[in-house]
Parts: sequence; structure tokens; C-alpha cells
Amino acid sequence: MLSPLSATLLLLLLPLSADCFLLPASPSSPRAQRASRPHLAPNPGRAPSPPGLRAAFDELEGDGKRGLKEGAGSFKKVFVAGGSRGVGRCVISNLLSSGSSVVALVRSAEAAAELGELGEGVRAVRGDAFDYKAVEDAMWGCDAAVSTLGGSEDGEGRLVDYVGNNNVIEATGILGITRVVLVSSIGCGDSRDAAPDAVFEALKDVLKAKEKAERVLQRYYTNTNWTIVRPGGLKTMPATGNAILTEDKLAIGSIHRQDVADLVCKSLVSGETRQKILSAIDPSLSVAGGAGAGKEVAAFVL
Ligand SMILES: NC(=O)c1ccc[n+]([C@@H]2O[C@H](COP(=O)([O-])OP(=O)(O)OC[C@H]3O[C@@H](n4cnc5c(N)ncnc54)[C@H](OP(=O)(O)O)[C@@H]3O)[C@@H](O)[C@H]2O)c1
Repeated sequence: MLSPLSATLLLLLLPLSADCFLLPASPSSPRAQRASRPHLAPNPGRAPSPPGLRAAFDELEGDGKRGLKEGAGSFKKVFVAGGSRGVGRCVISNLLSSGSSVVALVRSAEAAAELGELGEGVRAVRGDAFDYKAVEDAMWGCDAAVSTLGGSEDGEGRLVDYVGNNNVIEATGILGITRVVLVSSIGCGDSRDAAPDAVFEALKDVLKAKEKAERVLQRYYTNTNWTIVRPGGLKTMPATGNAILTEDKLAIGSIHRQDVADLVCKSLVSGETRQKILSAIDPSLSVAGGAGAGKEVAAFVL
């Protein structure tokens, strides 16, 4: 039993996780214990798991178990957050076509039913990305994760662009999943100057939230094979096939959602995208503004 003083000292010594800033939690609560794990461990893939979890994990064979080859390869079962519509929905279709099965975290019964119609390869699990446990439970047994989460708020001012994505990232660390693709946005991090000022101002909160999620991967998931894809302005139109990924931080432009999904899925299985941050634009579409508008950018070779 810890004395009150020891408990206080222990508290003072505990490093703050990024999550702590958003949701103060009692250090003895399961959330606080969970939140501290990946951030305490420089290698989330090796973060100690509770014995029960570890034993169950060790029993897994094939899918669900970490140890998929780093880099190139296909994945048996991919967790997708954000797959009810938009880019995430296109990602699910692509994955099914390529032979992977999919576990999709969705909020509504309608979305679950729609995805169910895509066939046996997809299992829609209803849950909210703000709920860490829902994310982790749904992800169980997957060997890669893709998140295209965006655009919701939990009623307390917290954005899914950080909290939901952070939950996805943390769950991969806890479950030992070492392949993660995060769909973020041009305007985040070192691509700030690419976004026209008016766009940045209008989207500042969302971009900052996405940037925080990006930073969790960059700072704490140093042994994970993650890729951050930052699309430009999205349009729902058929794929042009002309879209590119680029490491040019000033790249700016539009891109069709299906093209983003195609690039995300290619990135997922590429051996070249480990810990890369790539902007996704379509040079064949016109550009409205931004520091890099009209500038030719080099395509990243997948
Ligand atoms: N719009 C743009 O021009 C633009 C530009 C750059 C980057 N992006 C980013 O690119 C990504 C894809 O964009 P998009 O427009 O194709 O997708 P989207 O239409 O914004 O879809 C977002 C997805 O996230 C899900 N979601 C949101 N909050 C959730 C929660 N609390 N729990 C579970 N699921 C939740 C939504 O599910 P529901 O159906 O339940 O809401 C939906 O499936 C997003 O991250 C977006 O922010 C967008």
C-alpha cells in the first residue's frame, strides 16, 4: 500500500501522455494506465501487455499477430476507421478487391448494413472512435490499421481528428500491430505553408488536431511501420489515375477521394513508405492557391 506522499511522488514522476492534456484521468483509472503505456515505451510494439492479453496474443497465429514483414507485403485483415464514407469507404473496397479482409469501425447501423452488403470479407463493428475500448476491441485480430477519421466532435470540444486517431494509434501499440496508415491533411506540421492562409485559418483547429495525432506516431512509435498520407482538397469524383504522393512539403492541390484511396492502399503494401509523411495531390487538377501553387513537384516512387 503506497503512503499518500509516495503516491504523490509517483504521480509527479509519471510522464504526461499527450492524452493527459485532453482528458484528465485519475492515475489509477484504466484509462490513465492505458494512456501512459505507449507514450512511456519508445517501442510500443514491445510495450508490456497484461499477462492475459499477452497469453491470448501469443496464441494467435497468422493474422492478428505482429511480425508481418516490414515493408512490402499484403495484409490478411485490415482495421479501417472512417470507412462509412469518403476515402475510407473507397479504401475498404480496394482492400476487398486485393484479397484482404476488413474490420470497419462504424457508428451507425445504416453504415454497418451497407458495408455488410459488400460481402463476407468485411465485418462492420459498431463503435465510436472516441471510445478507446471500442477501438481496441474492434481491432483485435487485425494485422494492419488505416484511419481516415475526421470531422466529428464529442460534445466537449474534443475532435476525432486527434482523439479518435490517437485511440487507433494506441490500440495498434497495445495489440502489437506494426503497420499503420494515417490519413491526415496538407496544412499539418511541416506542410503548413502549403495551405493558403485563408484555408489554414478556417481549418486551424482540425489541422492542429490532426497534427497532434501525427506527432504521436512520429515521437512515440519509432519502431512502427507507419505512413502519414496528407491529401489536398478532396472531391468525390471517379479516379483520374494521375494523382501522386510527394515528399514536397509545399505541394498543394486537389485530389479525388478514390485516387487518395488508391494511393493509401498502394502505400500500405509498399516497402518504401516506412515512416514517410507524404502529401497526396493530383497535378492534373487545377490549383486555387497556396505557396506551392503551380510548382512542379517530384512524385514519390512507391
Ligand atoms: N475534405 C477535404 O477536402 C479534406 C482535405 C484533406 C484531408 N481530409 C481528411 O481526409 C480524411 C477523409 O476525408 P473524407 O472527406 O473522405 O471522409 P469524411 O467524409 O470526413 O469521413 C470521415 C469518416 O470518419 C468517421 N467518423 C467521424 N467521427 C467518428 C467517430 N467518432 N467514430 C467513428 N467514426 C467516425 C465518419 O463516420 P460517420 O459516417 O459516422 O460520420 C466517416 O466514416 C479525413 O480525415 C479528412 O479530415 C479532408
